[in-house]
Amino acid sequence: AASALALGLAATGANAQTDPCDDGEIVIKFSHVVAATGHPKGDAATRFADRVNDEMNGKACMQVFANSTLFDDDKVMEALLLGDVQLAAPSLSKFEAYTLKYRLFDLPFLFENLDAVDRFTTSDTAKGMLTIMEDVGYTGLGYWSSGLKQFSADKPLLVPSDANGLKFRIQTSDVAEAMIEAMGGSAQKLAFKEVYGALQTGVVDGQENTWSNIYTQKFFEVQDGITETNHQLLAYLLVTSTEWLNGLEPDVRDQFVKIADEVTQEANAAVAETEMKNRQNIIDAGGTVRELSAEQRQQWVDTMKPVWAEFTDDIGQDLIDAAVASNS
Ligand code: LMR
Repeated sequence: AASALALGLAATGANAQTDPCDDGEIVIKFSHVVAATGHPKGDAATRFADRVNDEMNGKACMQVFANSTLFDDDKVMEALLLGDVQLAAPSLSKFEAYTLKYRLFDLPFLFENLDAVDRFTTSDTAKGMLTIMEDVGYTGLGYWSSGLKQFSADKPLLVPSDANGLKFRIQTSDVAEAMIEAMGGSAQKLAFKEVYGALQTGVVDGQENTWSNIYTQKFFEVQDGITETNHQLLAYLLVTSTEWLNGLEPDVRDQFVKIADEVTQEANAAVAETEMKNRQNIIDAGGTVRELSAEQRQQWVDTMKPVWAEFTDDIGQDLIDAAVASNS
């Protein structure tokens, strides 16, 4: 554990100053790509580490590496299998190489609000989807919601045709690509840590993300404004290596999984407030937020929703129906 600090890596949370790991403890390294604080995932990871370091002291310890300081979302998946880290929480858009079922979460205008997301992610259907990658070595421990996404660009976007000819950074998601193309734009897949630079230098004209990412990564500083489209969910899979998890002593595993469950519930209950705070932070920092009229919003829905049809076979109509049903 001392080696992480010796390498000068930014461990955060309770372990920011001191190494939480003692000899003989199981070391749990959690690598993620967002801000360490003031962000749904950053805050949840810190809370998770604090609880493990407190309640499992003597048995296990957790170190959190925020802000892509250890791995980006591509590399972290290999690192899990190699045992270089034990936990990650990439967005559900980033599992295309392992399963196409998670494309469900990317369908535009699938969830009407975060309550619907909560209803779905706590359903038996969604819980069943936590284990669909076990044949390739990964087990999901829970879904961490992060908010709905908004569009930003270097010019005002009020209706989808405003995006004609613009290039948008997207995550590694074919659904997002189809969505951008439906708007008449082009899409470029880039790692999260490259987005600010790409916006600043004009490699891309725009991006889509949550209020928390737009604020904590300062994207709003290099964009004309943000349009409140709420067009798509950003949520994470808290994921570990199946082999590592199964290798834990049963009592250690049970305690760890119980803490993970409780932190997941707490984190999801706090998302809406953190998101609204960061929306306001953007405005307070001089960023422009554009709200849509009902008629404008309908144009975004009409333009993007048809892409669902392209992905129904990958996802399965049953899963789509279950997610849609969580809206009521
Ligand atoms: C992104 O790449 O935009 C997000 O998945 C980053 C994150 O983890 O919130």
